[in-house]
Formats: sequence, structure tokens, C-alpha cells
Amino acid sequence: MAAQLLDGKIMSAELEKALKAKVEALKERGITPGLTVILVGDDPASQTYVGNKEKACIRLGIHSETLRMPESTEQSALEAAIEKANADPSVHGILVQLPLPKHLNSDHALSLILPEKDVDGFHDINIGRLTRGEDCVVACTPKGALYMLQKAGIEIAGKEAVVIGRSNIVGKPMALLLLQENATVTVCHSRTKDLAEHTRRADILVAAIGRPKFVTADMVKEGAVVIDVGINRVDGKLCGDVDFDAVKEKAAYITPVPGGVGKMTIAMLMDNTVAAAEKAADKA
Ligand code: GUN
Repeated sequence: MAAQLLDGKIMSAELEKALKAKVEALKERGITPGLTVILVGDDPASQTYVGNKEKACIRLGIHSETLRMPESTEQSALEAAIEKANADPSVHGILVQLPLPKHLNSDHALSLILPEKDVDGFHDINIGRLTRGEDCVVACTPKGALYMLQKAGIEIAGKEAVVIGRSNIVGKPMALLLLQENATVTVCHSRTKDLAEHTRRADILVAAIGRPKFVTADMVKEGAVVIDVGINRVDGKLCGDVDFDAVKEKAAYITPVPGGVGKMTIAMLMDNTVAAAEKAADKA
């Protein structure tokens, strides 16, 4: 039986509608949520992602500013841009698009963003709070993936969840979120032995590897929920980390690429930005 689609287009549109109402309510209080995006260099994928973020801000009435800095930008200039946005009360969210050029120290740059303006959820304090199960800003992609599971009414507690990939952006926070929801979580990575043995046990399988169509049907349990976080370009076409056409015949639920988790990542960035503006407004 073909899997049910977890449709990021529909789910993100619904969420955006609710967020738009929150933005309007903030504007009535004299506050326009503001997002500053810092983009260093001219990586084409990053340019596309940043463009999509700008469009979402426009749709919702969020003020967005993108600082486009050249590839040769020095660490001190990047850090000065972050400090300036930190000090600006009209900026509620700051995002440094990754990856940064190799000569820059991303960890140090990210550590300078005020935790309450860290709409990516990458700051040490937010990661620490997530690890402890405390209220925090959660990274947009894993937050979006979890939202899709919850919106579809998929039971997580007690389920075997397998995450392939251990990145700080997706794999690790995804595993922590699933653990928080009481799943039994396994994190697999490039050094995992017998990967398919793990993935075939998964009731919920999250693929965040960055390799096109890496997850094949023989790696998936009948009736599993498959969340594809990958965005790969093959022959000019986007595809995920999951061999969608084959796996959809075996899974109970599956996210498409494009139109799946990617849409939710942007919606969650908007959610985190609106929440940061609300918190700032409540404090004022
Ligand atoms: N590059 C790829 N994904 C992301 C993300 O979620 N946030 C940032 N800042 N950069 C990214």
C-alpha cells in the first residue's frame, strides 16, 4: 500500500496563517518582528535558502534584512555585524547562514548571538537547554520534522526512532526531540556498522545524511514513518536522502522532497522569530 504523504506545503501554509495573525497582533502593540540574516559568500544553495526566508518574511509581514557579505569577509567583520544586530532592539532574530567560508570560525560567531535572538537554536545555551528538556529555541529543521509527526497524529512515545546523521543542525537535535517525546532513539552515522539492521527496526526513520536516495526500500520496515531531511540536487532536480518512489510503497507515512521538511524549516524559522518578538514585547 502506498504511504500517506506528510505534506509540508499544506502544513506550513496552515502554520503561516496562524503566524500572520500573531504578527498582526504584535503590530497592534507597535512591534514589527524583525529578522536579520547574515549571508557570507556566494554558495548557490545558501542563496536559494536565504531567498526563501526573505519571501516568507514578506508573506507574514515580518521585517527582514539580509546582510550579504563577500567571501573574503574577516571574522572581525562578521562578529561586528552580529554585535550590531544584537544591540538593535528592532531585530528579534539573527541567523547566520551556514556553511560559512572555511576561513571563518562558525562556532565562535554563533556563540556571540544573544540566545534570545538565536532563532536557529544553535547557541550553546539553547542546545544545553534542549538537552535538559527545558524551554528553549529549537533548531528549525528538527522542530519542523517533529511538528509534522505531531500534526499527523503519529504516536512517538515508546516507538523505535532511528536518526541517520549526527550533525549539530539536524541529527543531534532531532534525536534529543524524539527522546523528549519518549521514543527509544538510535543515532546512526558514517561509522555505524550494519546500518540497515538499525534502520529496519525503525518505526520512525529520519534521514539526514546529505546523500541522494541513500535510504532504499530494503532498509525500511513495512509501515514505518519516513522523514526525509535531505535536499540534494541531481541533474538539476531536487531529491531527498530517501529513494522516495520505492520507499513510499513500503512506508505508512513519508515526506516528499521538495514540499516536505524544507517547507517546515522555513515555517519554523518564522515561528521562532515571531516567538522571539513576542517575548521581547512582553519584557518591554
Ligand atoms: N544551512 C543549512 N541549514 C541551515 C539552517 O537551518 N540554519 C542556518 N543558519 N544555516 C543552514
